[in-house]
Amino acid sequence: MAVKPFLTDITELRKRARKHLEEGAVTPGYKADRTVVVKLLNEALATEIVCVLRYKRHYFMASGINAQSVAQEFLQHANEEQAHADLIAQRIVQLGGEPNFSPEGLLTRSHAEYVEGDSLIGMIKEDLVAERIAIDSYREMITYLSNDDPTTRRMLEGILAMEEEHADDLVTLLQELGHGS
Ligand SMILES: [Fe+2]
Ligand SMILES: [Fe+2]
Repeated sequence: MAVKPFLTDITELRKRARKHLEEGAVTPGYKADRTVVVKLLNEALATEIVCVLRYKRHYFMASGINAQSVAQEFLQHANEEQAHADLIAQRIVQLGGEPNFSPEGLLTRSHAEYVEGDSLIGMIKEDLVAERIAIDSYREMITYLSNDDPTTRRMLEGILAMEEEHADDLVTLLQELGHGS
């Protein structure tokens, strides 16, 4: 009985790679449903953009006795969410899709909400809610992708880890301000 090779035969791999060259990084071995993945990534992109906008608003509006350090945290998060948005947009293009940067419908596509918050504590709490939403949606996307698109999955795992850090930072801020549970 012939041993089943672990990898696809090399000539077959080479033949497949030559087909559909215009698809770039997407080879016939790509297992996920690309339309679905691009749609999910565009929702994640909208989420990140909304988070950038919300953190920027909070950064500029932060005032009060404890505002300086909190504002710096808001700014850092805004920049990191921007970096996530860029990574996601780049991956959408690699997958042959188009990143949706349209302001129209942005909030509908986004998982997280844009809440201005009425105080420093209110802002931190709203950001924490948004981070927790992002954490759950990234976790679901990672489970959905499983081994069908390991590159996208790994990117999302990296982003998820940072959203968890963000949530942790915000909880620490609340505790420092005497609003921890
Ligand atoms: Fe993010
Ligand atoms: Fe975040």
